Amino acid sequence: MADKIIIDTDPGQDDAFAILLALASPELDVLGITAVAGNVPLALTQKNARQICELAGRSDIPVYAGSAQPMAIQLVTAEHVHGATGLDGADLPDPIMPLQDQHAVEFIIETLLREEAGTVTLCPLGPLTNIGKALTKAPEIAARIKQIVLMGGGLFEGGNITPAAEFNIFVDPQAATVVFASGVPIVMMPLDVTHKVRTTRTRVERIRALGGDFGTVAAGWLDYFERFDEQKYGTDGGPLHDPNVIAYLLRPEIYGGRHCNVEIETESELTKGMTVVDWWGVSGRAANALFIRDVDDEAFFALLTERLGVLAAQRPAPQLRRLGA
Ligand code: RIB
Ligand code: CA
Repeated sequence: MADKIIIDTDPGQDDAFAILLALASPELDVLGITAVAGNVPLALTQKNARQICELAGRSDIPVYAGSAQPMAIQLVTAEHVHGATGLDGADLPDPIMPLQDQHAVEFIIETLLREEAGTVTLCPLGPLTNIGKALTKAPEIAARIKQIVLMGGGLFEGGNITPAAEFNIFVDPQAATVVFASGVPIVMMPLDVTHKVRTTRTRVERIRALGGDFGTVAAGWLDYFERFDEQKYGTDGGPLHDPNVIAYLLRPEIYGGRHCNVEIETESELTKGMTVVDWWGVSGRAANALFIRDVDDEAFFALLTERLGVLAAQRPAPQLRRLGA
């Protein structure tokens, strides 16, 4: 029986690889994809999510638009990382598959109330606005969620949008507060683990070699996405954040971490969006998340490349107009 998941996302090249990995994996039953404003505004994230589904040959996947603004503060986006479209590096045709009429938050609530309790996993890959709103509007869903496996936060790695805060949490710290206080089992993929999963040149070329337009698009995204972090960190390749959420569901044994208490700073101008992670257990506060710190990065890329190969073999991507080609 495939694991039922909802992917909440702000594509984002790294989100794209998480979605592709999920759609290539028969172990997972993607009930729907919900878009949220984050890397780029909602109008683009909902379009990008549909383009990614079509690239995977899965225009059957329902895509929903969610929140255009965080719960309490103004939206901050990351075009400087992802480009103006959010998927710079390849130029896919506009999506043909329709956007669902239902609001993403309503879809999340309705699905959790309909499906058997404890059988649906939420996989947030962006700011937690849609999840925070769903839990606020319908608190009864908390007991019905199997687990939340999210990309966000950091401790020993510090922040990536401020010295203290990781982008997804920084964009909507109020929503993150709701999620981490919900009592739902949480697995957190912070910068501490995603920074150990880098798109080295060898790894990118293996993906390009998958061939066809699919290999061109996937490698083009990585070529574009990694440039920002390579310059920032001086590394060969950049961290591939979001696919770790999906890889954890498929191969949890390649990850390691510790159950910790995690609180969110929402007030300080200097540190808002910081995940205050009690790794050493000094606060006396109850653990509310499994904080993942270690990963077998070779196993991760072997899994990702193998599953992308399944998609590449199934169907060429639509005719492409590569940027600058
Ligand atoms: O900080 C990295 C996270 O922010 C990733 O999910 C990336 O896609 C952006 O949303
Ligand atoms: Ca993301």
